[in-house]
Amino acid sequence: MTVAQAEVPRIPDGRLLIGGRWLDAADGERFVVENPATGKPLAEVCRARDKDVAKAVAAAREAYEGAWGTMDARDRGRILRRLVTLLENHSEELVHLESLDGGKPLKATRRQDLPAVIDCFDYYAGWADKLKGDVVPARSDALTYLLREPVGVVGAIVPWNFPLMNAAWKVAPALACGCTVVLKPAELTPLSALRLGELALEAGLPDGVLNVVPGFGTEAGAALVSNPGVDKISFTGSPAVGRWIMKTAAENVTRVGLELGGKSPNIIFEDADLKRAVAAASSGIFFNAGQVCSAGSRILVQESIKDEVVEALVERSASLAVGDTLDEKTMLGPIISEKQLDKVQAYVAVGQSEGAKLVAGGNRVSRPGYYLEPTVFANVDEHMRIAREEIFGPVAAVMSFKDEQDALRLANSTTYSLAAAIWTKDVTRVHRLAAKLSAGTVWVNTYGHTDTRLPWGGSGGDSGIGRDLGEAALANYTETKTIWVNLRQ
Ligand code: NAI
Ligand code: MG
Repeated sequence: MTVAQAEVPRIPDGRLLIGGRWLDAADGERFVVENPATGKPLAEVCRARDKDVAKAVAAAREAYEGAWGTMDARDRGRILRRLVTLLENHSEELVHLESLDGGKPLKATRRQDLPAVIDCFDYYAGWADKLKGDVVPARSDALTYLLREPVGVVGAIVPWNFPLMNAAWKVAPALACGCTVVLKPAELTPLSALRLGELALEAGLPDGVLNVVPGFGTEAGAALVSNPGVDKISFTGSPAVGRWIMKTAAENVTRVGLELGGKSPNIIFEDADLKRAVAAASSGIFFNAGQVCSAGSRILVQESIKDEVVEALVERSASLAVGDTLDEKTMLGPIISEKQLDKVQAYVAVGQSEGAKLVAGGNRVSRPGYYLEPTVFANVDEHMRIAREEIFGPVAAVMSFKDEQDALRLANSTTYSLAAAIWTKDVTRVHRLAAKLSAGTVWVNTYGHTDTRLPWGGSGGDSGIGRDLGEAALANYTETKTIWVNLRQ
């Protein structure tokens, strides 16, 4: 687990990026961010509050009305492409920074997060000069056409589970559309966002186009949501905060996009390729230590194969290498914080007291940092809390169903609607279920994929509303304007 010198990330000095300058917080306060793999401090970062956020929003407004808003779309695209090159050149450094700050196994960050970040900026860089309006011949006595305009200043509030990737999902399309951004990274993982800010300046992004204000949710985050100068809040995080944001944004009628939680069903029928289904069910819940909005946290198994699947899942969880994020062999890293580990452990206790059968894991791993063994509950009943609530940790709930109808009813029985998966060889069943599952994404005979080109988001309730990614995300950051030109003489 030695890190080659060249790969040791430069830890950003923790100042706020506002209007192209690196500033201390107005009241001079800082907070400590730690490495969840060891529990040791990693850096001190400036703690933005109202005044800092107000300054950042003003800088974003100025850049929107100035340099960025008046730049040719082609040139905006070129700057974003320069940022892509810089991200590629600094990819390994960013992988280490993200892994240290977020407690994410190096291998996974390298394979998943950074490629997704780079692809996201690359994809939206291409969109910058391809957004267009339309001519709608509504009347013979008028020329009626539509302009597609940026919404203005975007407030992006992102969580700690995929810090840089979640930032990219919002920042890249917003900038491509001609918006400017104030990015509020999670207080647990602010470092990669600050590094992104540095690289964006290096790429030639004009001052104030991307501002980065680390701070706490109830301080910097809340200040951003209530600021009347913000035209759109794009949020990923917990359902409770999402609800609060929607209510608060209503005051100024600020647009909101909410990517919230999940309790995604991974449905395995008896005719499935069980080897592959079990492997995917395991990575579906244990990837990123289960701290994934689309984690396959409910594994629904047809009764006839229940015992076989549970046995195979238990076997697989025992084979997962738990360890430090920088160890290349690690498959399951730590949970993000002591507090989050406590929350997950409390759910393990709830599962046991509710009568579910703990068949694997359940204990904290005795080493520094915040590790939980990969945990599997069998005989889970749909009314149990561990079957209904998002745990956001490496805890699988295995439930059984009789037939297709029963599977569908169970799958759709929570307040979430983010994702679902079906394992079967029956092609008609695939399409029947895909149409009826309450989910923004349905995987068939696979689990967990996302791609920049494909829209991503919940279908309401505790999974939220709106879509990140794909062409769909362009609608988040643009508004049409109708122009009516009288042609009568
Ligand atoms: P959170 O929703 O509190 O944090 C997400 C982001 O929102 C952070 O940047 C935070 O600073 C900000 N925030 C918090 N309160 C805010 C407010 N009043 N106004 C504006 N911004 C605010 O999530 P937290 O507490 O870190 O995690 C708690 C639970 O949320 C997890 O256990 C999990 O169930 C869920 N979660 C879901 C995520 C997803 O990807 N859908 C990501 C992170 C958490
Ligand atoms: Mg951290």
